[in-house]
Amino acid sequence: MSIILIGFMGVGKSTVAKKLAEEVNLPVADMDDILTQQLGMIITDFFEMQGEAAFRTLETRLLVELLKTDQIIATGGGVIMNKENQEALQAQSKVIFLDGDFDLIYSRISSGRNAEIRPIVRQKSKESLKELFDYRQKIYQKLADYTLRVSGQYPREIVEEIIKWLEESK
Ligand code: S3P
Repeated sequence: MSIILIGFMGVGKSTVAKKLAEEVNLPVADMDDILTQQLGMIITDFFEMQGEAAFRTLETRLLVELLKTDQIIATGGGVIMNKENQEALQAQSKVIFLDGDFDLIYSRISSGRNAEIRPIVRQKSKESLKELFDYRQKIYQKLADYTLRVSGQYPREIVEEIIKWLEESK
């Protein structure tokens, strides 16, 4: 069984996935990193050249592939927008939702490299990002087997919580 981290951009999925993978001794797959590598460009540039739909197609293909192996998967925040992906995630039993605070997330993703690599952040105002956040929260929640509220803890603490849950849900 894979362990899949879902949640909004900037909530810490990649960092937590890496640390968790070390602790539980499983490989880690970071979807954005893999896609960036496959595309040979940052996701922002791919959106500009080919559009979001083309990105979503590649993202779905990758998710299906990754779910074939037992590993920790850090998804991209938009992976839950597609019905096929929702169904694939629903069939899993270890989907973990990192439920973050919008203002904290926004402060992380709204500038510098973190903004540059995220087309959705570049396209949207703070208000429309908040709308997207509210809309997606319900979907993350619906798909999650475990929701972990994250608000300023160290990644180490988040990983400990996850491991506790994994033990309990064995
Ligand atoms: C996206 C989130 C990004 C990345 C792409 C689209 C989204 O991943 O997949 O820019 O639609 O929320 P992160 O959640 O890792 O930022």
